[in-house]
Amino acid sequence: MAVAIFDSGLGGLTVLEACRARLPEVDFLYYADSAHAPYGVRTSDNIYDLTHGAIRRIWDEGADLVILACNTASAAALRRIQEAGLPQGKRVLGVFVPMIEALTERNWGDNSPPREVSVQHVALFATPATVASRAFQRELAFRAIGVDVEAQACGGVVDAIEDGDMILAEALVRSHVDALKRKMPHPQAAILGCTHYPLMQEAFRAALGADVTLFSQAQLVADSLADYLKRHPDMLGSGGEAYLTTGDPRQVSDRATQFLRRPMPFAAA
Ligand code: DGL
Repeated sequence: MAVAIFDSGLGGLTVLEACRARLPEVDFLYYADSAHAPYGVRTSDNIYDLTHGAIRRIWDEGADLVILACNTASAAALRRIQEAGLPQGKRVLGVFVPMIEALTERNWGDNSPPREVSVQHVALFATPATVASRAFQRELAFRAIGVDVEAQACGGVVDAIEDGDMILAEALVRSHVDALKRKMPHPQAAILGCTHYPLMQEAFRAALGADVTLFSQAQLVADSLADYLKRHPDMLGSGGEAYLTTGDPRQVSDRATQFLRRPMPFAAA
């Protein structure tokens, strides 16, 4: 029995770790489309094609439920994939909704009409494709009124992380936070809207200051997955723990091991 976690690269490992800690009895199949990362600078048609191809490959491995632990794929492809219709017994879930439910003080799956919430000024840090999609603002508008969102496309951060250049990633985070603050000097909350960014959480925290509430997805996604599996135990699928990449397995294993500080043996997808 396995649940799949998909990301364009290594960022989804932050979600994988939170899910493993929350659901120790579940095996996770992690699929990194490293050969095509970063997704955040691609067109939405291209992101759709890549994401759809990866999902079909994951289904072949036996997992029925795929968590798109990639905001860019969730923003650019998820709605289209769901609208095209999924094969019988297969499900694909994104990572936006759990985060927006937390921001708007809702329980999982609360679909009541939009209402005023305590935060009014929200900074969104995400990839250029996620920002361009406006998917975050659309999902937020279904749940909250009167929230001002300023989005900052954080070009270069994902490439630097995938290359293991954390000094460059940190410098880029500082400059993107500065750019955001020029547009919105006093955000009350900041959304780290890319699974890679929790790997730079301390840099975001230092640049934003202690009084900004940081919403980071990994734990929220893990909690909502636990709730989902309680309601849908049939979605556990078949297959066991596996880590697959479309990139160079040795290089991806090294980087993943470095990030998680435990052996992460990737195989070729
Ligand atoms: N980590 C992914 C996300 O959450 C995408 C990064 C990328 O490939 O650009 O958006």
